[in-house]
Amino acid sequence: MKKAIIQYLEQLQVSGITELYRTKTSKHSDSDSAIAFADKAEVLAEKKEAYKDCRKCQLWTGRDKFVYGEGNPEAVCMVIGEGPGAQENLQGRPFVGEAGHLLDKMLIAIKIKRDEVYIANIVKCRPPNNREPEQVERLACLPYLMEQIEIIQPRIFLLMGRVAAQTLLQSNQPMKVLREKPHDFLGRQAYVTYHPAALLRNPDWKKEAWIDLQKFQVVYTALQQET
Ligand code: URA
Repeated sequence: MKKAIIQYLEQLQVSGITELYRTKTSKHSDSDSAIAFADKAEVLAEKKEAYKDCRKCQLWTGRDKFVYGEGNPEAVCMVIGEGPGAQENLQGRPFVGEAGHLLDKMLIAIKIKRDEVYIANIVKCRPPNNREPEQVERLACLPYLMEQIEIIQPRIFLLMGRVAAQTLLQSNQPMKVLREKPHDFLGRQAYVTYHPAALLRNPDWKKEAWIDLQKFQVVYTALQQET
């Protein structure tokens, strides 16, 4: 446990995080959790505003809207995708296009409402023609995601697709291997499944995604009942 905390603090430091926020309080404890919720929502809103004109990488040149992320500031689960597409770039919200509609359905299939989780991406601005974000773009943007994780303190991650999984797990393994088992990410469990856009292109993979999601659901439900 101590090792995991040290590793976590080191990763935060590498990502440029200099402030820490208080952790989630139990919903059964007292009115403190409501205050924590308001604090987190406010901090996230301030951060979104502060970063919206970011020029840390070239992706800003094609940006209409900076897609910071959205959802429950007290989420037990953080869902992480690759980067905004056309619709997300126009609306400034993650996963609102065709892939987003499929993500909503995938979550509903495991009894999760979209607004119960927090949804973010590896990069906050749309890569041209929906190409994969380059390594330099991912690294420039990562401190924003690490800070969101630090504020929200999710207890589990659902990583959508290869780019999210390989970037956060610092791995070059293919999806077949990455999906095989949960991973340790910052001392919490991270589950990997296919990106909804990949499922739209390859509907045959949906059966396997369903198996991944069911495994995730068991652990997520248990964690949710604990909080
Ligand atoms: N694909 C992603 O990875 N993220 C989005 O927000 C939309 C599509």
